[in-house]
Amino acid sequence: MGRVLVAGSINMDVVVKAGRHPRIGETVAGHEVLFLPGGKGANQAIAASKLGAPTTLIGCLGRDAFGRDLRAFLAATDLDLDFLRDTADAPTGTAIITVADGDNTIVVIPGANASVNAADVAAPPLAADDIAVCQFETPLPAVTAFLERARTVGATTILNPAPALPCDRRLLGLADVLILNETELGFFAKREIGPTSDPATILEAARSLQTDSRQTICVTLGPRGFLALIGGEPHGEPGRPVTAVDTTGAGDCFVGAVAARLARRHTVRDALHYANVAASLCVQRVGAAPAMPSAAEVAAQVEG
Ligand code: RIB
Repeated sequence: MGRVLVAGSINMDVVVKAGRHPRIGETVAGHEVLFLPGGKGANQAIAASKLGAPTTLIGCLGRDAFGRDLRAFLAATDLDLDFLRDTADAPTGTAIITVADGDNTIVVIPGANASVNAADVAAPPLAADDIAVCQFETPLPAVTAFLERARTVGATTILNPAPALPCDRRLLGLADVLILNETELGFFAKREIGPTSDPATILEAARSLQTDSRQTICVTLGPRGFLALIGGEPHGEPGRPVTAVDTTGAGDCFVGAVAARLARRHTVRDALHYANVAASLCVQRVGAAPAMPSAAEVAAQVEG
């Protein structure tokens, strides 16, 4: 089995639960505020690790109270933290998350995540049977350097270009598996894509991002499941009928699950099925990193 190496963000999620989202200029009373571990990188790494893959997290924390809390939380997992750095130059990354009606809005303040650099991603050992995973919450030069390095050693690359940012199209082409949601797909494909877009429109937009026919493009669709192009072939699964209490981190769960499954040499199609099940468990719990399911929990659903 290969390792999963995730280079990415680590945030303290300040989660506010409210009856509904405020409109612009409006104040609403919330019910509760929670301080929970998050960040797309940390969430994806914890998902992969809990789903059975030996996993390394590459990232950066501030030397502050949030940084200390997050390091303690991460130290209690099975993650390899040898390449997790502290910096005194920036505060720990923070995300302000409002959860209402089972959905969320997020504002991220990158802080220390913005100092992840090419030297950080060059440090860990990386081999051909490993899976390299990154997102867009750390600087794009570091993301590019990590994916290029992974390509050089023959590792499998997974890119989750979230949040969507303008970038060189070549960067998306460094991913063997590109996983993004509808909003991100619309951004990169430069077309209107939303919750009511039909499968043909989504697949056509996904095809416009594909740089070579071996690349997998997977579009996660929340409660509608996912649609993918696997080596040019369309494939999809509906969402599982569950009651979502908090969708924060569901996309990260999906990415981490795909990575864990590919590290065990399962096919892409199997990995996407497994990830769809894992994400359906994640949305039934509050928070991002703490909501990631275990391998046993996913197996109970997959097997029946
Ligand atoms: O994808 C969810 C994550 O986005 C949250 O944990 C938050 O930290 C932001 O990075």
